[in-house]
Amino acid sequence: MPNTILAGAQWGDEGKGKIIDFLTDEADIVVRSQGGNNAGHTIVIGGEKYVLHLIPSGILRKSKICVIGNGVVIDPVSLVGEIEGLRKRGVAVGKNLLISDAAHLVLPYHRALDGRREALKGKGKIGTTKRGIGPAYGDKVARIGLRMCDLVDPEVFSKKLAIRIRENNIVLKSLGAPALNGKAILKDYLAAADVLRPFVTNTVVYLHKALKSGKQLLFEGAQGTFLDIDHGTYPYVTSSNTTAGGACTGSGVPPHRVGRVLGVMKAYTTRVGEGPLPSEDKGITDALHAMGREFGATTGRPRRCGWFDAVATRYAAMVNGIDEIAITNLDGLDAVSAIRVCIAYQLDGKKIEFPPTDPGALARCTPVYIELPGWNKPTDKARKFSDLPPRARDYVNKLAGLTGAKLTIVSIGPARAQTIRL
Ligand code: IMP
Ligand code: MG
Repeated sequence: MPNTILAGAQWGDEGKGKIIDFLTDEADIVVRSQGGNNAGHTIVIGGEKYVLHLIPSGILRKSKICVIGNGVVIDPVSLVGEIEGLRKRGVAVGKNLLISDAAHLVLPYHRALDGRREALKGKGKIGTTKRGIGPAYGDKVARIGLRMCDLVDPEVFSKKLAIRIRENNIVLKSLGAPALNGKAILKDYLAAADVLRPFVTNTVVYLHKALKSGKQLLFEGAQGTFLDIDHGTYPYVTSSNTTAGGACTGSGVPPHRVGRVLGVMKAYTTRVGEGPLPSEDKGITDALHAMGREFGATTGRPRRCGWFDAVATRYAAMVNGIDEIAITNLDGLDAVSAIRVCIAYQLDGKKIEFPPTDPGALARCTPVYIELPGWNKPTDKARKFSDLPPRARDYVNKLAGLTGAKLTIVSIGPARAQTIRL
């Protein structure tokens, strides 16, 4: 397998966790390179459901190595909880996990600021996961962040933390939020440090040694293209580069070592949180929710749903350099008789092929649809492409054609076996 970046081609929740788990079979090392515990990657193995937030999905496969790269922001207490939760369920977490010493920390003041800023925005809120992701990346860029290499040194950490607490308590108070107890935070974080210390290392050096010895890397993107801080629907985005380039900066692996970019997309569109979503549709939202589908893995929020948006996926194919695509959740459309696909936007009387940068303009866009006949048959038992109803095959081929990349995987359910390779 070529070193592969897996990127979400929509607004996150494309089913990346499941596809990563499927592909991990062929990889040696799974790498997370951006985002934090705002992510929720769901994997179902033998009827058991696992939701991972910070740890790469490869952890569930024996003899695979998982790396949390420098570009990730880590809430150490949450990470310890995730490690313990996996261990309780019999999943080994030890030498198979490496954590970058350069990864930035998420601290309680980041969460407090995230919540308070959202509340102050009122109707204009982003709809964040309130995990402190934006403020943590903000500190990183402002050069006032604390990193894993600080955390594992109690003396350094306690000094740096005290300075940060002092400043953040002034800010929090001025925003009308209660001040935080620095001593309690120090205690919790030092306890987490004791658990995490054995995992912390220079992962750049590790990954380069691994590359030299011919190991194959799989980059597990979190969130999706339209939540990218540069290429997404700003300001309704997350605070990292969720597109393919982020895998390189967030891991220290150079671009020319990447052999393939796989874009993951749902057979329809979803978004959780605020911001424009041109092909949003109440009918399909209600239908999917009635099936018990499309509730957030991290926050439990109902996701907004819409028809497949080829304007978006075409743009995603461009920005990420998508070579191959995986289409997930095809089974979600099994009972829909007439399926719409957005092929262009109408903006102020003009037809456009690419999403406008200005969120106001994007919010004014109305979708131009084509309609395809549904297959009205269950697809979840299909194991080969030829098992799918002809109309389902036509549908996914149409989506791949409109996106402009080769279709290589179709997913028709959460289980590993419900994955068709083309
Ligand atoms: P934040 O990343 O918590 O700051 O949230 C910013 C935006 O990204 C919000 O609209 C969130 O709902 C969205 N978001 C963050 N992480 C995910 C994810 O893993 N899946 C889907 N949406 C996400
Ligand atoms: Mg998710």
